[in-house]
Amino acid sequence: MTTASVFSQEKTTKITINADEKSPVISKHIYGHFAEHLGRCIYDGFYVGDSSSIANTDGIRNDIVEALKELQIPNLRWPGGCFADTYHWKDGIGPKEDRPTIVNTWWGGVTEDNSFGTHDFLNMCELLGTEPYLSGNVGSGTVQELADWVQYTNFGGISPMSKLREENGRKEPWKVKFWGIGNEAWGCGGNMTADYYANEYRKYATFISDWENTGGLLRIASGASSDDYNWTETLMKNIPKSLLGGVALHHYSVIDWKKKGDAVTFTDAQYFRTMEEALKMEELVTKHAAIMDKYDPKKKVDLIVDEWGGWYEVEKGTNPGFLYQQNTMRDALLAGATLNIFNNHADRVRMANLAQAVNVLQAVILTDKAKMILTPTYHIMNMYKVHQDAKLLPLAFESPKYTFEGKSLPAVSVSASKDKKGSIHVSLVNIDPTKDNEVEIDITKLGIKNVSGTILTSKNLRDYNSFDEPNKIEPQIFKKFKVKKGLLKVTIPAFSVIVLEGK
Ligand code: AHR
Repeated sequence: MTTASVFSQEKTTKITINADEKSPVISKHIYGHFAEHLGRCIYDGFYVGDSSSIANTDGIRNDIVEALKELQIPNLRWPGGCFADTYHWKDGIGPKEDRPTIVNTWWGGVTEDNSFGTHDFLNMCELLGTEPYLSGNVGSGTVQELADWVQYTNFGGISPMSKLREENGRKEPWKVKFWGIGNEAWGCGGNMTADYYANEYRKYATFISDWENTGGLLRIASGASSDDYNWTETLMKNIPKSLLGGVALHHYSVIDWKKKGDAVTFTDAQYFRTMEEALKMEELVTKHAAIMDKYDPKKKVDLIVDEWGGWYEVEKGTNPGFLYQQNTMRDALLAGATLNIFNNHADRVRMANLAQAVNVLQAVILTDKAKMILTPTYHIMNMYKVHQDAKLLPLAFESPKYTFEGKSLPAVSVSASKDKKGSIHVSLVNIDPTKDNEVEIDITKLGIKNVSGTILTSKNLRDYNSFDEPNKIEPQIFKKFKVKKGLLKVTIPAFSVIVLEGK
């Protein structure tokens, strides 16, 4: 695997793909998404209400459902984020007109009428054909409240919560597997220390299932922010493994929290910084995984990057608390490179959630009243879905450099997998904004007869899909490769993402 310190000096980068039988499967859950009660993600995003003139099913936009079904999204995290630790799920069940209103204190101080609640979300997941990932309230909730939520959503027998669920119109439980025990407990989830949170976690995790975890739940601990390795170490040391299904990690590619820069009119220096932060994910997952290996050498506990993506200043004229931003080729490259990192660490990274699905941060979908557009990031997710549940093919190569003002990053990132039908997919990213890069992939041992390709690029790095020009950036057929004597030679244009298929 490439590291930032080892660069290829050759004109052509040589890549060896290892058809290693022992390599892990890339969990489809790496391709997960996130929907928070934040800005226009749920309200005026996914959910327009059943009296809307926009085509909907029980208030959920049909066009969004179709677009996300095409991506085969494996899971969707809800209701937060920071919102999760202010959310009391019982506010969001029963007749909508009887539901209390609250103030969304984290995101714009807007009034939340709770018209989108547990039934709305879990039924929406059924429409999307995706698995729900519920984020429980630890910061301002109680153990009983979370235990009740699990019983409400999952228990098929007779119980107070299943009775209540039936009264609210749902007989069969949804059987939710993924449960987050709080969110960002070190910050908006309660400003806890790692030791304090580890104890809280043990208590919550005990009462929402049992010691043997026969409830079929995957309990996920609120994880570290970026390089807070002490957080991961403390959780891994202090939480019994029988209570721990996954440990989360959040990392946003932010230039500077005080000066995040424009989403579209970024400078070359800001572009470099964003890529630097995006590629830092390699170091983060390597180091967090190494800590986990110490306490869990059999790799039973998942590393779950349940918030990642680019974060810039909001679009001018929009509510600063709504985190609405445009999405350019920079975001496509960020997504492609990050997903390559996750794929290559599939032995430990088994789930991830891009922040966020609709109208917030690095969204795959943007809406404006009845209009909807698919962002460049959407197209990356669509191109990369071939890796879902495919067997990782480990790679060895040294990347050429992308240098800016004396600092260098690896220009090329790659991951490869073999799917259940035997097709091989290689995803290649060239983040260099000015230089094409040539790679040569040795495919002699892979039994490939035919190769085809798809590329995502554009005329300008700062291009994006707008409501006036929604299809400016779209995947195109890619043919700039040659196969000769078992070597696949590819020219990866500057700032482009390519997925090759070999059969
Ligand atoms: O995704 C936006 C916010 O970023 C989430 O609510 C929070 O968990 C993180 O800080």
